[in-house]
Amino acid sequence: MDNTTLIDGKAVAAQLRRDIAAQVEVRLAAGKPRPGLAVVLVGEDPASKVYVGSKVKACEEVGFLSQNFRLEVSTSQQELLALIDRLNADPQIHGILVQLPLPKQIDVQAVIERIDPKKDVDGFHPYNLGRLAGKAPTLRPCTPYGCMRLLKAYGIDPMGKKAVVVGASNIVGRPVALELLMERATVTICHSKTQDLPGELAQADIVIAAVGIPQFIKGEWLKPGAVVIDVGINRLDSGKLVGDVDFASAADKASAITPVPGGVGPMTIACLLQNTLEACAALEA
Ligand code: GUN
Repeated sequence: MDNTTLIDGKAVAAQLRRDIAAQVEVRLAAGKPRPGLAVVLVGEDPASKVYVGSKVKACEEVGFLSQNFRLEVSTSQQELLALIDRLNADPQIHGILVQLPLPKQIDVQAVIERIDPKKDVDGFHPYNLGRLAGKAPTLRPCTPYGCMRLLKAYGIDPMGKKAVVVGASNIVGRPVALELLMERATVTICHSKTQDLPGELAQADIVIAAVGIPQFIKGEWLKPGAVVIDVGINRLDSGKLVGDVDFASAADKASAITPVPGGVGPMTIACLLQNTLEACAALEA
């Protein structure tokens, strides 16, 4: 651990938020409107409530307009789609975020595809994902974008490195693999059916952990000197927040590692703000 760099996502995110706040000031001085983000939460999922609260607070701190929509868990798909249509047409709103997961009566894909791609600040619309796959990114998924900005902030260039992504979700695993490939890493995506995860990790110069299982990835599986980016946020029965990586053993093996909390989490929110600012500028152009 003595020689291991602790990747301080809280500090990198705070700097990005300051940059964004300064750009909002410049906009306002030029008579332009505040960037506006609509945040939609359906139901009462406790973790989602916390995330949505943090997103709204972060918006206000950088001088954005934020509109907060809390819908009943019984909301129909038709009602949610009608709200999205209204937000798509609202000139004060430049970004629309529908917090996932959604209740089971709602078709997530239909919701994602209904959001105007120009306002899709989550970067989940097939248009934006397709742009990322084609090395011409527009709005990019926030957590993967945050991981890449952390690597960059610490001078870690993925070019030519072996990167192993653990987890193949639409929100993190798949898009972060596309981000790493765009930076010319050799990318392997592992998931629950991967036969020999320790064997894959033993070769990884960069590990992105996004499986959603507390402390799943052990230090002994890592290549000495690996860079470890832990996307997991899991609450143990004790109340303690931990990542998908067993931090104590991994920190002994890694050259650099993100803590949980204070690693990727704050970057996700800062990148959402960055996307909203970019969406706002692009909608005006
Ligand atoms: N649920 C977990 N992560 C995310 C995210 O990045 N965006 C949205 N909308 N929902 C999430």
